[in-house]
Amino acid sequence: MSQHSASAQAHPNIALIKYWGNRDDALRLPVNGSISMNLAGLHARTEVSFQPSLPFDELIINGREVTGKGLQRVSAILDIVRGMAGVTAKAEVISDVNFPTGAGIASSAAAFAALALAASRAAGLTLSEAQLSRLARLGSGSASRSIPAGFVEWKVGASDEDSVAESIAPPEHWDLVDCIAIVSATHKKTGSTEGHALAATSPLQAARIADTPRRLDICRRAVLVRDFNALAEIIELDSDMMHAVMMTSRPALHYWEPASVTVMQAVRNWRAQGLPVAYTVDAGPNVHVLCPLGAREEAESKLRTLPGVGNVLGAGVGGAAH
Ligand code: DP6
Repeated sequence: MSQHSASAQAHPNIALIKYWGNRDDALRLPVNGSISMNLAGLHARTEVSFQPSLPFDELIINGREVTGKGLQRVSAILDIVRGMAGVTAKAEVISDVNFPTGAGIASSAAAFAALALAASRAAGLTLSEAQLSRLARLGSGSASRSIPAGFVEWKVGASDEDSVAESIAPPEHWDLVDCIAIVSATHKKTGSTEGHALAATSPLQAARIADTPRRLDICRRAVLVRDFNALAEIIELDSDMMHAVMMTSRPALHYWEPASVTVMQAVRNWRAQGLPVAYTVDAGPNVHVLCPLGAREEAESKLRTLPGVGNVLGAGVGGAAH
């Protein structure tokens, strides 16, 4: 690699307390804080090289050239980096994502976290973790949380500078596993960016936002003291509250499939019977089932027996972007 290139790797993350809605869509300043866990084993690896001979920025993801809106979103981050570093050259961005798209894991979080780190280094900048988190946030809100390690909180913040994420506990603090139940019926629905813009049209969003500091406190404490039952109750409530907002926005967004509901009900029943499992669902039909490492085998094999569950992907707690 030349002086003007660098590569970086980042994990996707699963939100335990969800980000849904912006107070500033362009800057991706959220209406509420959120908490997440990085997903080990899954990552985006991105190489950025600034080349004076290039007429345009180029983006290649998993061997395929990406143009249009996808490229524009990446170029916007490169423009910010160029402005900060005084670089004028266009860049080639080559990114490889090692998890299946359509698996219910947003690749944008890992992708923009890796891009923020690789692009800033390639331009000769050494940004702090907070500055990297802010830069990643401008590409995709949840990407701010894929910069720090382990269990992470993205502060709602007062401004563009301080709406950033920081680690609340390292990966080794708690050996949780996310067992992602892939439900068979997946078709393309409204993406997160469009969804955030609709959140304010739900009459339930104001109540959800007003109650968020309480849920954040309960979730943060549950993580810090490793209280699985407290975590289970608060993440299921938070996921259900976000989906209630989605379902009552205009136009309404229904991300759950019948099989998603089957998994959520089974998870509640299993927990009532003593198996430590809890669900959370993002802007798609697949269900993330969290459990302590000791319950992983039983949780995964039980999930595989449910009608409509195609595959189950497991991920432990991941480290920082590096
Ligand atoms: C439901 O970060 O994907 O996964 O900023 O428009 O890229 P953009 O949105 P994104 O939204 C994530 C929404 C969510 C909840 C969460 O991860 O907190």
